Amino acid sequence: MLKDKKIILGITGSIAAYKAAYLVRLLIKKGAEVQVVMTPAAKEFIAPLTLSTLSRKPVISEFFSDRDGSWNSHVELGLWADAMLVAPATASTIGKMANGIADNMLITTYLSCKAPVFVAPAMDLDMYAHPATRQNVERLRSFGNHIIEPAEGELASQLVGKGRMEDPEQIVLALEGFFSSEKELSGRKIIITAGPTYEKIDPVRFIGNYSSGKMGFALAEVCAERGAEVTLVTGPVALHTNHPGIRRIDVESADEMYWETMKVFPEADVAILCAAVADYRPESQAIEKIKRENNGDMLLPLVRNMDIAEALGKEKQENQLLIGFALETNDAVEHAKDKLKRKNLDFIVLNSLENKGAGFQYDTNKISIIDRLGEVADFPLKSKREVAFDIVNKMITLFK
Ligand code: CTP
Repeated sequence: MLKDKKIILGITGSIAAYKAAYLVRLLIKKGAEVQVVMTPAAKEFIAPLTLSTLSRKPVISEFFSDRDGSWNSHVELGLWADAMLVAPATASTIGKMANGIADNMLITTYLSCKAPVFVAPAMDLDMYAHPATRQNVERLRSFGNHIIEPAEGELASQLVGKGRMEDPEQIVLALEGFFSSEKELSGRKIIITAGPTYEKIDPVRFIGNYSSGKMGFALAEVCAERGAEVTLVTGPVALHTNHPGIRRIDVESADEMYWETMKVFPEADVAILCAAVADYRPESQAIEKIKRENNGDMLLPLVRNMDIAEALGKEKQENQLLIGFALETNDAVEHAKDKLKRKNLDFIVLNSLENKGAGFQYDTNKISIIDRLGEVADFPLKSKREVAFDIVNKMITLFK
């Protein structure tokens, strides 16, 4: 997908610049042509020689070449590219991009670039969380730039949090997803449910679960990148997405999720039911905050929620696909097969609970896919984005 693609790789002055060498290597291996543009500060972190050797092209950093005084044309470069990737992108560069402060070759190239732009921020957690950075990032998003969100983890400051540049492999996957020439899902309408549901007890309390929504959001993005029109019905999560192919519907309870999903299902080609839907809700919701009784315990009567997957399974037409998830602690495959049948699914994704790093809240997941023929395909521990690719690939085989 990246073969013969012309990519400007903008590198800025962050410690993560050392990863840019690997990024160039990966892009070249995929057949891309890479032109590195560095800010002056980036050269403090990684030698231009390393990057020019790996990219097989002289690195551009100044407006004029020292050697012969020739001019590096940012305009030509901007028109040459099929994509521009700024990785790592510091808070300073993001700020300059957002405000058009064209004081170096990288920013002038950015302003001249007509191709899609990808930005992979890298900075300390507090810098990333600062309202100034948040606003600048949002501004870039509003220009249509693609933000490759930083990952959580240990940072150069030894603090732990969100700000670490996404791994080069993930960045390349994001570019590949964008260029995925086949766009196998264009014209397809896909519903995805994601996140937890909150079942209200009174105005200040609810029953919920730890689902982060990450798996469902990764699926929504991968489907949209491959051309699908996605309706993402999500419970309360702290995630955002701005792919133009995703229409997001925020809900709180299982009941709301049920109605929103049922409304759009008749038009859909596929529904992927990724949400961790509460099976029960309080029988009644107190209008006022429930006060503590002086003596004794409290009993909270619960009633069943609708099973969205099962309801869609009953409505499903020949040309529609239904994909479910299962999280089991014992006899996993047997229970998952039973759910597949009971809910009339086309395949079910079984989340493993055995691996540390898989499931709720984590960025990684380990799955098995079980289909109607009873075939079980096991996958290794991967990022949720890569897992989303595996699930979407399986789905595409069922269209054929
Ligand atoms: N699901 C749903 N609506 C519900 C419950 C579950 O759509 N009210 C979907 C989930 O999104 C998932 C699949 O059904 O795709 C299986 O969810 P799970 O909670 O494991 O299934 P249950 O039928 O509730 O089984 P269990 O007894 O194991 O909780």
